[in-house]
Amino acid sequence: VAIKVKTSKLYYSKKLPTPKTWGSGAILIYDRIFDRQVKASAWVQKFEHRYSVKSGEKLKNIDQFPLHMKKILKLAEGIATRDITLVILGGGSVGDFGGFVASVLKRGVRFVQIPSTWLAAIDSSHGGKTGLNVSKIKNQVGTFYPANEIHLVQEILAGQPQERVLEASGEVIKISLLEGKRLWSSLRDVSKLDSALYWKNLPAMVSAKYKIVSRDPKEESGMRHLLNLGHTLGHVWESQMKIPHGIAVLYGVAFAIEWSLHRKYMSSKDYYSIRLSEFGAFLPDRLELENILAKTRDPQKLLLQDKKMSQHRKIRFIFLRAPGRTVIESVTVAELLAEMKRQSL
Ligand SMILES: NC(=O)c1ccc[n+]([C@@H]2O[C@H](COP(=O)([O-])OP(=O)(O)OC[C@H]3O[C@@H](n4cnc5c(N)ncnc54)[C@H](O)[C@@H]3O)[C@@H](O)[C@H]2O)c1
Ligand SMILES: [Zn+2]
Repeated sequence: VAIKVKTSKLYYSKKLPTPKTWGSGAILIYDRIFDRQVKASAWVQKFEHRYSVKSGEKLKNIDQFPLHMKKILKLAEGIATRDITLVILGGGSVGDFGGFVASVLKRGVRFVQIPSTWLAAIDSSHGGKTGLNVSKIKNQVGTFYPANEIHLVQEILAGQPQERVLEASGEVIKISLLEGKRLWSSLRDVSKLDSALYWKNLPAMVSAKYKIVSRDPKEESGMRHLLNLGHTLGHVWESQMKIPHGIAVLYGVAFAIEWSLHRKYMSSKDYYSIRLSEFGAFLPDRLELENILAKTRDPQKLLLQDKKMSQHRKIRFIFLRAPGRTVIESVTVAELLAEMKRQSL
């Protein structure tokens, strides 16, 4: 079944679609881990034009980009631009990189995302944001370029190890707290995270994201900013401590909840209904927050670089009143640093 969402068509399927779907001008960019998986590697080899990459933040490094682009252009030689379809198979790093390539290759070509991690299937493949990192700072260069098609493929997603399941939990908690209704009520009593649970809830998580994105596709009205819940400090921890994006977000969401309670945006009743829910147990507790905050070096420098601003300039921070009810409030970097200090005592 194809559901039309903005410009991306979404497909949920058991198996990988046949490469013939995209014709002879298809160019596959894929995470090289799939060369080691029997079934997926047979599928990969059906592409006449293919480019394997090593996933991770280095792939998104702008310094490497010209080298990749030269090789990809070589693959595209002899294919008429209108026939090119870039097919991207991989997690969020491959998707952010491949989406950017698609948006600039010959001034933009058709492109298809096949997210292979839960994080990418739930979050990063949707919404059209592509990104490259400059120095250590994430997503400083990028485009809004939604995929023409997004294929959510059970056989690719279900085979992930538990580590990847846990790595997605930050985005799962984020989107379910933002949605706050049916999704949150069906997840709040869940005590075990696994691929079956994610697959079952995938359509609801994806549509919760589209609901926010479609009201502000190019991040102009501020609505889309809600998706940054847990990301202000999440990005700092991700780049400084080299922890996976989704785990960093998990800490960021926990920090935001603590701050929301302290600012009295959130009542203790709502605080405990989240904290004491089965699902809330996946959030780091106060002690774990203290620990990560104590280990954070020079957050000011990273925050200022990240947003290119002075201590007195403001960051739009996402607070939570209750599941489904948010407050976007401008805070100064100094206020954020003071709150980090408070939570680390
Ligand atoms: N564009 C957006 O809107 C958006 C949103 C959220 C995150 N992101 C970006 O996404 C990236 C993180 O995503 P990620 O964690 O998916 O990154 P990733 O691509 O680095 O994948 C994480 C790990 O999973 C492995 N992997 C991929 N598919 C697998 C499979 N099927 N089975 C087993 N292992 C598999 C990869 O090789 C890698 O080691 C970050 O760069 C982040 O900035 C982008
Ligand atoms: Zn994220």
